Amino acid sequence: MALTPFIMDHPLIQHKITLLRDKNTGSKEFRELINEIAMLMCYEATRDLPMKEVEIETPICMAKSRVISGRKLAFVPILRAGLGMVDGMLALVPAAKVGHIGMYRDHETHMPVEYYCKLPADIQERDVIVLDPMLATGGSAIDAINQLKQYGAASIKFLCIIAAPEGIEALTTAHPDVQLYCGALDDHLNENKYIVPGLGDAGDRIFGTK
Ligand code: PRP
Ligand code: URA
Repeated sequence: MALTPFIMDHPLIQHKITLLRDKNTGSKEFRELINEIAMLMCYEATRDLPMKEVEIETPICMAKSRVISGRKLAFVPILRAGLGMVDGMLALVPAAKVGHIGMYRDHETHMPVEYYCKLPADIQERDVIVLDPMLATGGSAIDAINQLKQYGAASIKFLCIIAAPEGIEALTTAHPDVQLYCGALDDHLNENKYIVPGLGDAGDRIFGTK
């Protein structure tokens, strides 16, 4: 059975997503918001990291206290738009390594076309969090995760800011072992496979193209 998607309901995330959706929000503010939302989502997506107790000395006395232990993290943005989330994630986990998967949707078929893949050499030993603000048909996310699994990644989460029901269905069917975190669940896809209401083309809005 597929893991249940985690839909964020935190007021700060919802407020910032509303600003993102607004077509009058310019690229500078859009980029800042994407990073802030990524940081807030990172906090939630790392809630289950294993911990161990260590002994330290405070200025007052010896004490036992907890630190994160176990496998290290890798963040893998799907280019281009996933790049916008990387700095927010690294602000909370600066030691994470970053891989990149380049993919774009063909304008006619809406199918993903892969053009780049560079991952940390020890990806199979890391907990991987894939980053992409948009989960529309799910094709890009499914292909990126296929790619990661081919390289041996075994522990994978997917973090998106806006998801369509069609994308969630496709991704959880293709990869039931992948925990999915979404900032918002939207209504449907339009005839061009854009999320409704969505926020338009995330890559174009981040980088000011178009
Ligand atoms: C967008 C988005 C996802 C993909 C989602 O990328 O960032 O990667 O579409 O759509 P899907 O779920 O239907 O696959 P896009 O193809 O526009 O590429 P870009 O980021 O380079 O502009
Ligand atoms: N990619 C985007 O950037 N936006 C959508 O709504 C769908 C795919």
